[in-house]
Amino acid sequence: MTDHDTDRRSDAQSAHGRDAVHHAAVETALAALDLDTKAGLLSGQDAWTLPAIPEIGLRSLVMSDGPVGVRGQEWSAADPSVALPSPTALAATWDPQLARTAGHLLAQEARRKGVHVLLAPTVNLHRSPLGGRHFECYSEDPHLTGVIGAGYVRGVQEGGVGTTVKHFVGNDAETDRLTVDNRIAPRPLHELYLAPFEHIVENARPWGIMTAYNQVNGATMTEHHHLVNEVLRGSWGFDGVNVSDWTAARDTVRALNGGLDVAMPGPRTVFGDRLAAAVRAGEVTESAVDAAVRRVLLLAARTGCLEGVPAAVDPARVPQGIDGRAVAREIARSSFVLLRNEPVADGRPVLPADPAALRTVAVIGAAARDARVLGGGSATVFPEAVVAPLEGLRAALPEGVTLRYAVGAEPRTRVPHARTGFALRTRYLAADGRVLAETPQSDGKVQLIGSYPEGVGRAELAAVELTGTFTPQATGRHVLAVSGTGALRLTVAGQVHFDADCAPDGSDPFEAFMHPAEQRVEVPLTAGEQVDVTLRFVPRSLGLGDDMDALNFSLGHAEPQQAPDAEIEEAVRTAAGADLAVVVVATTEEVESEGFDRADLRLPGRQDELVARVAAANPRTVVVVNSGSPVELPWREQVPAVLLSWFPGQEAGAALADVLLGAAEPGGRLPTTWPARLEDAPVTRVTPEGGQLDYTEGLFIGYRAWERAAAAPAYPFGHGLGYTDWEYESLDTTPDSVRVRLRNTGQRAGREVVQIYLAPADSGPAGAAPTDRDAAWPARRLAGFAAVRAAPGESVEAEIALPRRMFEIWDETAGARRLIAGDYTVEAAHSVADRRLTAEITVG
Ligand code: BGC
Repeated sequence: MTDHDTDRRSDAQSAHGRDAVHHAAVETALAALDLDTKAGLLSGQDAWTLPAIPEIGLRSLVMSDGPVGVRGQEWSAADPSVALPSPTALAATWDPQLARTAGHLLAQEARRKGVHVLLAPTVNLHRSPLGGRHFECYSEDPHLTGVIGAGYVRGVQEGGVGTTVKHFVGNDAETDRLTVDNRIAPRPLHELYLAPFEHIVENARPWGIMTAYNQVNGATMTEHHHLVNEVLRGSWGFDGVNVSDWTAARDTVRALNGGLDVAMPGPRTVFGDRLAAAVRAGEVTESAVDAAVRRVLLLAARTGCLEGVPAAVDPARVPQGIDGRAVAREIARSSFVLLRNEPVADGRPVLPADPAALRTVAVIGAAARDARVLGGGSATVFPEAVVAPLEGLRAALPEGVTLRYAVGAEPRTRVPHARTGFALRTRYLAADGRVLAETPQSDGKVQLIGSYPEGVGRAELAAVELTGTFTPQATGRHVLAVSGTGALRLTVAGQVHFDADCAPDGSDPFEAFMHPAEQRVEVPLTAGEQVDVTLRFVPRSLGLGDDMDALNFSLGHAEPQQAPDAEIEEAVRTAAGADLAVVVVATTEEVESEGFDRADLRLPGRQDELVARVAAANPRTVVVVNSGSPVELPWREQVPAVLLSWFPGQEAGAALADVLLGAAEPGGRLPTTWPARLEDAPVTRVTPEGGQLDYTEGLFIGYRAWERAAAAPAYPFGHGLGYTDWEYESLDTTPDSVRVRLRNTGQRAGREVVQIYLAPADSGPAGAAPTDRDAAWPARRLAGFAAVRAAPGESVEAEIALPRRMFEIWDETAGARRLIAGDYTVEAAHSVADRRLTAEITVG
């Protein structure tokens, strides 16, 4: 037995010991509570916390988003957090250990911010590339999603912090997410959408789960007795707490009976005093309330919030001293997917670029200067500093190399927040004009959710002003943009330029809050002449919980601009003749974010044209794609290299320089198929009809669907190039595992992700019902994977378990799993489309 095994065994023993202690402590605490206090504990006391109950030594439990960082109770740049790469990026590492390290770091961040429960990970599936929160989920494959999610949960909880695996279940798109009824047949529900949750519950024992906004097969998820009480708790043995998505709980009785424990956010929810009243009216039993309270108290005990009870993880043993920037950089470079890397004039692939051979590097693109490092919505955190690609390259290139920059094409349709040249602060005003509080502003965005600054009472607050000065750098017509749902008045140099009441746009109140429409004015200004600027805002209620402290409005600014054609011309001139041209293209928050689905997969603005023009001017053009989910790359065959950086987190530029200049290999493999064109994608419907969204494709999403589609994707599931080559030498199977031997045949050390697919032999597995064989068993499924590292010339072995579960289907008639006995082909592959070795096995 290794030291590691001994450690694991003693950890497991002490976890069991603690479970017993926790359960006893929970019973004692519960017995001391009256009905009103118990009902109150199941309801948020504000946006992010549960009430403390000092009589039983219970501290207030604090929750926070998640998943790429820990925002804390402030929704504001004043409380910065480490920002890791997007979940799609984490999945692209195919590295559960790295996901675990991410979890350790996030737990450290949570402890620093007094957070006990992280609202993450998001393990819904990439059903359609149009899904708005695609960037926040891991993969189109349930196994990869489950393995990465389990690594993440394990890491966070080893740090003593709880997780809520979300959104249980079927929140795979955003359109009408609060009401949509997703109609999902039992097989795909169990084999695809529930599978990651099941894997995580079995392998990482999460302390919490978050139930989704949507309905599944006619019942809303915060009231889903069958899936929560029977499947999650019953069949899988989940013993954690069930927290509603924010405002998702709608009915006191149905929610409690449907297995919901905590309704968020507070203070007005369907639980609390309404729950106590329902018990008194005989509509629900007190023992059902007790069961929910027990689970909350258990969470408190586990996270160290119950005095006198040892936390699940001994605080002395939590991973500490983790360097967040280093983890962010490591995940980023391990996640970058090199989609293409063709030879150029010297006969060698364009990447990695040899820094010693470079004299001039052209860097093009708005996102090269302002990287889009994370996806929008509740996943937003505020990093202290971001290394943009331009900065990262500047720092990494040897002295003497000239770096030239041009924006090329501005993809943002919204004006960026006012920053350069502005000196701003926020003033909170009472109706009589008294200043209740004044806070500094780093830019023109005023956003908070949770609590107003000290001295600001909700009842007294009448208006908020963003105020200060602006010193223009250029003479001309500057664009100023205001946004916010409510009354907005913009004054520049004593003159009112905008004064109107702005109504919500669309029907999603979160969207109206998070992304209010923007109104622009042009103001002629002179370089160097300072002017006073004030934007006054009187928010309007959005029915989001009027008792919540929340604020979101902004002032944007853009310099007098060149005509778009001139910007492209300048980029072409900048790139021509450079030894390397790096074009960074990106999606924007307007096209890829929480709260809405994407309408198309195009890069916004004129970025496609920009790439084509730059590539024509410079044969050594590398395109970096900065998006959280698939985009169409119509020029992909015209450029020698395409590198996908996802939303790379705060160390974006440092990691990019590592990979472009060869200090690190791009480690990523696609966790999801990239279509060439949206119309080729097998599943594109995300808009409900008559309130319902039918998952008519059944089991066929992702590569399962592409393999029977007429069109080929641009890049298949699992694809990604490194900087070396691999030869797969042998494949040996046992009934429950696979061993693959492979050799690094290239010139440098590298890492290869060995993927194992399982395909039923020609006629389908013997014993499969005709429907299983003909329609419902996909051509292959990912059954396991492992990464190996080797020096040039070295041969290494990967051993990969082949669990029996991989040969099972969900039998709809029996309502249980069923082994499909018969012949299978085991395939060792570099990607789903690049299968290198096969072996036949029979399962009986
Ligand atoms: C999101 C959740 C998030 C919650 C709290 C919701 O709108 O769907 O994922 O945890 O808000 O911010």
